[in-house]
Amino acid sequence: MSETIKKESLITTDENNYLLESKNLSHEFDYKLFQNINLTLEKKQSIAIIGMSGSGKSTLLNVLSSLLAPKTGEVIFNKKELYTIKKKELLNVRREDFGIIFQAHYLFRGFSAKNNLEIATLLSGESLDESLLEKLGIDFVINQAVGELSGGQQQRLSIARVLTKKPKIIFADEPTGNLDKETAQTVMDTLKSYIQNNNAGMILVTHENELAMQCDKVYKLENLELKELK
Ligand SMILES: Nc1ncnc2c1ncn2[C@@H]1O[C@H](COP(=O)(O)OP(=O)(O)OP(=O)(O)O)[C@@H](O)[C@H]1O
Ligand SMILES: [Mg+2]
Repeated sequence: MSETIKKESLITTDENNYLLESKNLSHEFDYKLFQNINLTLEKKQSIAIIGMSGSGKSTLLNVLSSLLAPKTGEVIFNKKELYTIKKKELLNVRREDFGIIFQAHYLFRGFSAKNNLEIATLLSGESLDESLLEKLGIDFVINQAVGELSGGQQQRLSIARVLTKKPKIIFADEPTGNLDKETAQTVMDTLKSYIQNNNAGMILVTHENELAMQCDKVYKLENLELKELK
C-alpha cells in the first residue's frame, strides 16, 4: 500500500504541469531592473505583471519569452533551458510554441488584414479561425489594407495573428493599450478562453489593474522583485 502511494507521488513530481519556469532571473541595463525572479506558469493559467513605467516589465517579458538572455538565471521550457539550447532550436520554440504580442505590433503594412493572417496559417499549418475574428470584432475589416485599419483594429489583428499560430504560451505586453474599456474586455476574454481551450498559458503585462485582477495570479514588479498581489 505504502509503495503504491510512493509511486503515485513520484509520478506527480515527474509530470509537473509547468509550461514555463524561471529561476533566479536578474537583468540590468543602466541600472538593476530585477533580481531573483522565480516564476512558474501552469497549463490553463494566466499571470499578470503590473508595475510602474520603467520598472522593467517589458524587459522581464523579453527574458521569459526567449528574446533576451538574462544576466543570471534560467528559463525552462520543455525541460530545457532556453538560453543554452542551439539557436535554431530556440528559433523553433519562438516560432511554434510561443505567441508574443508586442507593445508595438509588427504587421505587414502593405498587405491586407487577411494576408497578414494567412502568413501565420502558412507558417503553422493551422487554419484561419473565422469565429476568432468575429469574437475580436475584426471579421468585417479583413479585406482592408492594414494601413486603413484603426490603431485598435490593428492591435486586435496582431492578436488574432498570434493566436492563429496556436501557441502554447502567450506573452502579451500591453495588448489592450490602444483599446476602449469594452473592447479591452473582449480581448481579455478571447485570450483567457484561448488558454483554457488549448491547454496553453499566458503571461500578461498591463497597466490596467482591473484586467490584471482577472488573471489567476498577479505580481507587481517593484524594488527589483515580483511581489505577489494575488
Ligand atoms: N535595450 C535596452 N537598452 C538599454 N536600456 C534599456 C533597453 N530596454 C530597456 N531599457 C531600459 O530599462 C528600463 C526598463 O524598461 P522596460 O521597457 O522594461 O520598462 P517597462 O516596465 O516595460 O515600462 P513601460 O510600462 O513604460 O512599458 C528603462 O529605463 C529602459 O530605458
Ligand atoms: Mg513596457
